[in-house]
Amino acid sequence: MALPKRHEPKRHEPKRREPERHDPLPLPPPPDIVRAAYAELVVTDLAESRRFWVDLLGFVVTRADPGVLYLRGYDELIHHNLILRQGAAAAAARLAFRVRTAADLGRAEAFYAALGARTARVPADATPGVREAVRTEDPLGFTVEFFFAAQYAERLQQRYDLRRGAEPARLDHFNIVVPDVRAAYEYYRSLGFGLSETIEDGDTLYAAWMFRKQTVHDVAFTGGDGPRLHHLGFFAHESHQVLRICDILGSLHEEFLIERGPGRHGVSNAFYVYLRDPDGHRVEIYTSDYFTGDPDHPVLRWSVRDPRRRDFWGHPVIPSWYTEASTVLDLDGRPRPLVPEQQPAEVKVGADGFIP
Ligand SMILES: [Fe+2]
Repeated sequence: MALPKRHEPKRHEPKRREPERHDPLPLPPPPDIVRAAYAELVVTDLAESRRFWVDLLGFVVTRADPGVLYLRGYDELIHHNLILRQGAAAAAARLAFRVRTAADLGRAEAFYAALGARTARVPADATPGVREAVRTEDPLGFTVEFFFAAQYAERLQQRYDLRRGAEPARLDHFNIVVPDVRAAYEYYRSLGFGLSETIEDGDTLYAAWMFRKQTVHDVAFTGGDGPRLHHLGFFAHESHQVLRICDILGSLHEEFLIERGPGRHGVSNAFYVYLRDPDGHRVEIYTSDYFTGDPDHPVLRWSVRDPRRRDFWGHPVIPSWYTEASTVLDLDGRPRPLVPEQQPAEVKVGADGFIP
């Protein structure tokens, strides 16, 4: 009698990894980024922009030169959070991060050289208030600047007598539009950024919030044709400051500048409003997010199907918020061509699977 066949469990031999001929060389260490520090926007009518950013929103003018303004929030101690430069066409010229030491400038050059990215050293004070800097065209297509030494401005935190508008305190974050959110996440992870929250579904990463300072983010990604700047987020201390700028714009019959909100974000828990400046650059006034500084800070993952993810109260997001964003410029000041969105989104209404 034949013995019954012994049932052998199927073996899964580990696949032998063939040596890859084109394994990338290990990257040198990235610069030690401290925080998102400032941005430069090109605007087409500086007087109109000054009215919006300074007279209405309440930014402080650190310096005004012909054709250019240097602005900061009331808590900010370095020279500026925002440069507004007069130009022929609206655009976002650069995003600037502060780094921890002067040696991080050399690290930035070596890191981006290894990535094959164009870089340039910028001499001290080429930008007023900023000493030597390194600029690069990063792998996502944005012109990014790293600087260490900066000129300090007068401390205005307790000059309550000067405050106006939304009483902005400081720059909080950059939100950028990228064709491939996962690639953006991987790149910023290589720069040492932590991940605080995501919007995802199955294998698709629709949006991610990443930080160096100990808040929810310094940079966030929205999926779409890119590279484009989605918005600059400025921190205010209290939710009534968000409401106040809405009341001011309503009183002036300039309510059309309020694009979305006010509301409570699901992601980040922040209270927010999105405004559009006279050129259409989007600005968020943002308050009451949370501490992320523990080394093992757990990630909060939102389902793309949760209607509370973008607005905790479930309010729909206006389509322009998903589709419109600012052109970005290369190192030579030329507009960057757009790469079409590559997100494998299951639900294609809006950048993160907006549920109609
Ligand atoms: Fe934001």
